[in-house]
Amino acid sequence: MTAQTSRAANDLIAPNDLDAWWLPFTANRSFKQRPLMIARAKGMYYYTPDGREVIDGAAGLWCCNAGHNRDEITQAIQAQAQELDYSPAFQFGHAGGFALASRLAQLAPGDLNHVFFCNSGSEAVDTALKVALAYWNVKGQGSKTRLIGRERGYHGVGFGGISVGGIVKNRQFFGSLLAGVDHLPHTYNRAEQAFSRGEPEWGAHLADELERIVALHDASTIAAVIVEPMAGSTGVLPPPKGYLKRLREICDKHGILLIFDEVISGFGRLGTAFAAERYGVVPDMITFAKGVNSGTVPMGGVLVREDLYDTFMNGPKSLS
Ligand SMILES: Cc1ncc(COP(=O)(O)O)c(C=O)c1O
Repeated sequence: MTAQTSRAANDLIAPNDLDAWWLPFTANRSFKQRPLMIARAKGMYYYTPDGREVIDGAAGLWCCNAGHNRDEITQAIQAQAQELDYSPAFQFGHAGGFALASRLAQLAPGDLNHVFFCNSGSEAVDTALKVALAYWNVKGQGSKTRLIGRERGYHGVGFGGISVGGIVKNRQFFGSLLAGVDHLPHTYNRAEQAFSRGEPEWGAHLADELERIVALHDASTIAAVIVEPMAGSTGVLPPPKGYLKRLREICDKHGILLIFDEVISGFGRLGTAFAAERYGVVPDMITFAKGVNSGTVPMGGVLVREDLYDTFMNGPKSLS
């Protein structure tokens, strides 16, 4: 679409059309009185319908990591859509999917060598939580069903993600959400951390709260802990120094899976492929989406370690 045609399309919103789209996380009534429209994008800029250039400081929503409308990417999407637009997601495969899974496994640290694909970050989170529950079930430890999130955490808009998430406004309308969920305290403390560069010195001890949660519920009932290694939606909060290592140690001690939600920290946003690499901690699963294709196509997935994958591959015959 040229700049000319897209400008025309955006200038002509019929009043009925304006009401037809109910936007997420948006003050819809004020939006509809004064719609904020974007007509096109290129590189690090958006362009408004009247042609103003707007710098995209947030890279979309932390997802256009390679810049907007890269020719290589749009050409690859076009070529794929022309060759194979869709094939059943069950029982059939495509070489491109396997090749991508291998490349992701190479990017990921440790033995996070297997990928389960899905369509968004929210789905990736709910998938990881379900993999955790199913893993313990297949291992004969079906009592391990509790999921532990963190206050101020954001894990998308599925019921699982909202349940382990800790953003009050995102939870308050949806009743009791998933049962059996508990939350670690958030890691932000302005008095102790003000003016920190990068990871704050103060706060590693907050990971020890997991010991308190284990003491309360018993490890035999806890399946997994999920955190954003670097929080984004609550305000950008790097983890306190040593915090993630401590979480890993406590999870190992009690046989609890550790999930890093890397939907916004993956694919180079912290200078490494994943935050796990930057902070030197290998979780049992990494959720990803967004930057995997620079935000151009809805896509997400979960990277899992060898032990999890093997458990399902060698598990009961009904799974084969
Ligand atoms: C950490 C985290 N997890 C999950 C999600 C949900 O991803 P999506 O919007 O693709 O469903 C987001 C979205 O920003 C996120 O920041």
